[in-house]
Amino acid sequence: MVRLVESGRAARVLTTACGLGVFDALARGPLPAVAVAERLGTDARAPGILLDALAGLGFARKRGGRYANSRVSGSFLRSGSPGGVLSNLRYQELLAPAWARLPEIVRTGVPPRSLRRLLAQDPEFSRDYILGMAEIARRPARELAGSLPLSGARDALDVGGGPGAFARALAEQQPGLRVTLLDLPPVLKLARRLLSGCASRRRIELKAGDYHKTPFGHEAFDLVLMSHITHDEGEAGNRRLVTRAFDALRPGGRLVIHDFMLSRDRTRPLYGALFSVHMLVYTRQGRAYGLDEYRRWMREAGFGSIRSFPVCAGLANATRAVVGSRP
Ligand SMILES: C[S@@+](CC[C@H](N)C(=O)[O-])C[C@H]1O[C@@H](n2cnc3c(N)ncnc32)[C@H](O)[C@@H]1O
Repeated sequence: MVRLVESGRAARVLTTACGLGVFDALARGPLPAVAVAERLGTDARAPGILLDALAGLGFARKRGGRYANSRVSGSFLRSGSPGGVLSNLRYQELLAPAWARLPEIVRTGVPPRSLRRLLAQDPEFSRDYILGMAEIARRPARELAGSLPLSGARDALDVGGGPGAFARALAEQQPGLRVTLLDLPPVLKLARRLLSGCASRRRIELKAGDYHKTPFGHEAFDLVLMSHITHDEGEAGNRRLVTRAFDALRPGGRLVIHDFMLSRDRTRPLYGALFSVHMLVYTRQGRAYGLDEYRRWMREAGFGSIRSFPVCAGLANATRAVVGSRP
């Protein structure tokens, strides 16, 4: 129990430091706490206390009263670090006020601000949400694209494709494949920036729309990908998406659903069970679903040859892909 309380505090110290820009403040070399406070424009006393805890956690080094970035924070927690995760941790920080209201959310079942409202009204949230996803999507995207039977596929639809990591990985994996990435207009602005200069860019079409309303088309694709979107939706919404994907696929085409997937009793893996609570905090109907649920929805929509496999197995936040074929 004590360890869990400590972990909760440690996580808040880390995400707060990311949100305040502590690691950027230390980017040009060691500083005393008072100089960090000046750079951040904060209270003079507080950053020293935060920095001592960061040093204890291994995210800062303290020598002779001066603080420096550790190897990890210098490499992964500064703005613009290649392979860094600063935006993702800032996104976690932006949701901390919602997590603080968990008791009220459990009582009422209603999040203070839903993902839909956050995306529509809060540009800072949208930016860190999408850039944060781009930071963590590269590896699973490459692995997933490498595990799919893409030979002969000409057209793919990436529903809620966000920053475009999966669209890009699919296009790179299968030369000649055209990928349509469907997402909300403000998200596509970021996707356009992130995809600029990538070799397969001309085969990726960015299509602005709402995946609840924008038609997917009829027998227009060989592959439909839904990566990390079903956890934002309720069960009825997901069944509709799966049915619409079936209609959008050519005979022989495949639907791929990629997400955190839970055991039949919904308690494992732990990352997924906790992620479900994360969805409770800022979506109206979302949660992590079980592999058995995805299989059932696909079967009921008419898909056959349904199989699943792990993605990034061995990582704490490993995911799964379920693939079904339209006969
Ligand atoms: C968790 S992200 C997943 C992004 C990407 N597929 C991936 O796996 O990295 C969910 C994506 O769905 C998009 N999205 C949410 N609601 C949407 C809607 N109604 N229409 C289109 N896109 C939507 C969000 O903008 C976001 O890019």
